[in-house]
Amino acid sequence: MILIDGKKTAADIKAEIAAEVEQMLSQGMRRPHLAAILVGDDGASQTYVNNKVKACEVCGFRSTLIRLDASTSQDELLEHIQRLNHDPEVDGFIVQLPLPKHINEQAVIEAIDPSKDVDGFHPVNVGRMSIGLPCFLPATPAGIMELLKRYNVPTRGKRCVVLGRSNIVGKPMAMLMMQKGNPGDATVTVCHSATENLKEIAREADILIAALGQPGFVTEDMVKEGATVIDVGTTRVPDASRKSGFRLSGDVDFEHVAPKCAFISPVPGGVGPMTIVSLMLNTLKAGKNRV
Ligand code: GUN
Repeated sequence: MILIDGKKTAADIKAEIAAEVEQMLSQGMRRPHLAAILVGDDGASQTYVNNKVKACEVCGFRSTLIRLDASTSQDELLEHIQRLNHDPEVDGFIVQLPLPKHINEQAVIEAIDPSKDVDGFHPVNVGRMSIGLPCFLPATPAGIMELLKRYNVPTRGKRCVVLGRSNIVGKPMAMLMMQKGNPGDATVTVCHSATENLKEIAREADILIAALGQPGFVTEDMVKEGATVIDVGTTRVPDASRKSGFRLSGDVDFEHVAPKCAFISPVPGGVGPMTIVSLMLNTLKAGKNRV
């Protein structure tokens, strides 16, 4: 069993990006600049955004964090987005999700200029991805593809089963795994809450990608011997023994599943650190596109 070390891979890639930024600067280009809008004070969202800002520092990017009150109106938020769309100093930006209930998330996503949409959530980027055109890829699936590539996990002709059909993980993951190329060229099945015989389908997977958000959902009996298992789950589970009061739990019963696997990504330290790296890679790309 080979443990897929997302933490180390993410650190390697951030160092590669930092070296590239130095090279850009030496050629007279400016630093890539990422802006992030955070609305409200959700604990997990604050942590994610802070980690994104920290990653910008490591990569040598400029970053701007715009914090808005939870009571911010949709129109006010849209005004901030328009300002960033037109700011020539900003290469890419994100609006951290989820947003407060009174704001229509889809309207917000669609207000972002697709050429600055480094989250890859705008329908233009989703559409371009689906037909294999240059675009910004969504962070989590892109991070998983990078792990599969760097660990030389065979995907061509393999059965890939994706558990979960979310717009930001399950659906794009399926799309990328079925696309031509390496990694890719897989035969893909997507399972969700209405799927019958889910266990049997999961057991056929050479590559099983669990993105349901249900701690410990994938048990030993759902995994084929020699499979590659990618755990996308990052659910906060209360844990009084931790200073934070919680621990991150994956969708996979790691202890019992790992011995059966050719490759497995753990939680924490697997896919999580790679999602931020994908955002950094998109920001680097946006910076290069702009000059
Ligand atoms: N919330 C959870 N994941 C993401 C992400 O990738 N981008 C944004 N903007 N918000 C998120």
